[in-house]
Amino acid sequence: MSFTQCVVNETLRVANIISGVFRRAITDVTIKEGYTIPKGWKVFASLRGVHMDHHHFKDARVFNPWRWQNCSGATNVINMFNPFGGGPRLTQFSWEATEQDKLVFFPTTRTQKRYPITIQRLKQGVAE
Ligand code: HEM
Repeated sequence: MSFTQCVVNETLRVANIISGVFRRAITDVTIKEGYTIPKGWKVFASLRGVHMDHHHFKDARVFNPWRWQNCSGATNVINMFNPFGGGPRLTQFSWEATEQDKLVFFPTTRTQKRYPITIQRLKQGVAE
């Protein structure tokens, strides 16, 4: 099945359903030299922009599953191929519903009021 994985990777690279992820800077962030993202700014990290960049993937617009054999398709596969996003998650909080909500099923399944919640920081595994 190893070639199947190559096809999956190439599909995620060329035709990912998610083009990127939003992040908000919680502090001033300096990237490269001379670029600062000020605290509070929202940025859109374009996964597609990276995946379709010929600096990272040779002939980036060509669907070529073979590029993934022996991971030779990308100059730096680990850093440059990121179809599922990532990064730290909030793990030390608990939450409870702020108000009553309900599921609706048209046009898609979702909560009617977008399920507002209140979060609380956990202290040593226990809600404060
Ligand atoms: C090829 C299929 C999929 C792709 C490419 C994909 C891609 C992504 C991406 C890029 C994000 C944003 C991650 C980030 O903010 O760093 C995300 C979040 C998420 N996806 Fe998917 N996804 C896929 C399938 C699924 C499936 C099948 C499920 C559930 C059964 C799922 C559940 C979620 C959830 C719960 C989040 C939010 C995670 C969080 O913010 O902690 N995804 N996905």
